Amino acid sequence: MMKIRKLNQNESPPWDVLSLADPSRIIVEEYVKNGIIFVGEASSEVIGVYVLKETHKVVVEIMNIAIREPYQNKGLGKQLILHAIQEASKQGYARLEIGTGNSSIHQLKLYQQCGFRIEGIDFDYFLRNYDEPIYENGLLCRDMIRLGYTFES
Ligand code: COA
Repeated sequence: MMKIRKLNQNESPPWDVLSLADPSRIIVEEYVKNGIIFVGEASSEVIGVYVLKETHKVVVEIMNIAIREPYQNKGLGKQLILHAIQEASKQGYARLEIGTGNSSIHQLKLYQQCGFRIEGIDFDYFLRNYDEPIYENGLLCRDMIRLGYTFES
């Protein structure tokens, strides 16, 4: 069982878990500064993480989401996404957004299963922002697929 809680200000972010979703430490440090970090723990080990950051008065974004490798594909990523949806709604936001690579096939499936809809494409985002090329599922990761979840008002 994984328990999800907000990370306290005096605790250091789980950089190793965060790096699974984002290879750029510089980019991660930037959004961690202004974001709220949630960790998923099992037997007091951090096995998952997500970061929420306000991008507009009524919009919040999942900037990073990851589950440690041995714990993947057991429904824990879905548990984090559903928690983020609840948290964003509780905090009164109108929308929750997430972006992922064109090559992140499983993530695209997972986010849509959780109720997100594809809303746009940030063309060449990964080519512009990352020094090293990223390959996944036999595809070059170049475009960011933008997805959104709108709360009923
Ligand atoms: N292969 C096949 N299906 C996969 C999959 C994989 N590698 N990863 C997720 N899925 C599918 C599952 O089939 C499942 O669908 P189902 O409910 O129909 O069975 C659904 O996605 C939920 O999977 P879940 O077990 O909750 O995913 P997870 O615990 O592995 O977490 C991530 C998903 C993306 C957080 C996790 O794989 C991860 O940390 N990846 C590395 C970091 C990353 O890519 N982060 C996202 C950046 S945008």
